[in-house]
Amino acid sequence: MSARIIDGKAFAAGLRQRIAAEVTRLKQAAGFTPGLAVVLVGEDPASQVYVRSKGKATLEVGMASFEHKLDVGTTQEALLALVDKLNRDPAVHGILVQLPLPKHIDEARVLATIVPEKDVDGFHVVNAGKLATGAKDAIVPCTPLGSLMLLKDTLGDLAGKSAVVVGRSNIVGKPMAQLLLKESCTVTVAHSRTRDLPAVVRQADIVVAAVGRAEMVKGDWIKPGATVIDVGINRVTGPDGKARLVGDVDYESALPVAGAITPVPGGVGPMTIACLLANTLIAACRAKGLAEPTL
Ligand code: GUN
Repeated sequence: MSARIIDGKAFAAGLRQRIAAEVTRLKQAAGFTPGLAVVLVGEDPASQVYVRSKGKATLEVGMASFEHKLDVGTTQEALLALVDKLNRDPAVHGILVQLPLPKHIDEARVLATIVPEKDVDGFHVVNAGKLATGAKDAIVPCTPLGSLMLLKDTLGDLAGKSAVVVGRSNIVGKPMAQLLLKESCTVTVAHSRTRDLPAVVRQADIVVAAVGRAEMVKGDWIKPGATVIDVGINRVTGPDGKARLVGDVDYESALPVAGAITPVPGGVGPMTIACLLANTLIAACRAKGLAEPTL
């Protein structure tokens, strides 16, 4: 037996098409264009790649893209002033400040300055709190949201299933656990200090790996038939000396055991940007008092 491979790239392409159709409809019916502002401080190569892809994807669905590239030496005051300006700009419906920020800038302070209604990353404590308490208007972080979409598409109803999230970051692990709990899963959050991690993972119907450690979750940790969502994106050098991307799951050993699995690349990765566009569209509709589309 070999696992069904969950095609995140195809799912994300479909989602982006539905978003594009909705943007076209909004332009015609309501006469406005949703807009996303992305702020990058410094020249981290990975962040530059992410910001470029976000800008391109935004334009491709017909939204307005506002890119702000700031020098690595930008002061915290200057960055906060820019966020404040974007908060007040009616053409901007979503704001994303690319992380990590340079060391001299207080990340929490910057994230707290974005108005929650425009926080399309879902990192503001108000949005984290809304997600935890089940408020309908929470903006949900993009990677966990995309992971949940793939899970529901693969499994249908998740109620009663046992889910293990490996990783407890604010960006993925914690919101993922909240989303699974909302779907009535029995949720365990495991992490680097968890005792006998393989045994904990082995009892899960759903495994979400988000630890940032290349190929850590092995095939013999996985319950036969389980659904595996691999959030990791790790650059490693293969035996041939060439760089390649791998997830947090050892794909080769997991493939014969799992019921379904996301590949890296082409699994969760493409969902993150598609969900960012979905969050921006929803934020724009709310700002205009329009009904939220079902995507
Ligand atoms: N850096 C890595 N992933 C993310 C993300 O999802 N949002 C932001 N703002 N920065 C990131």
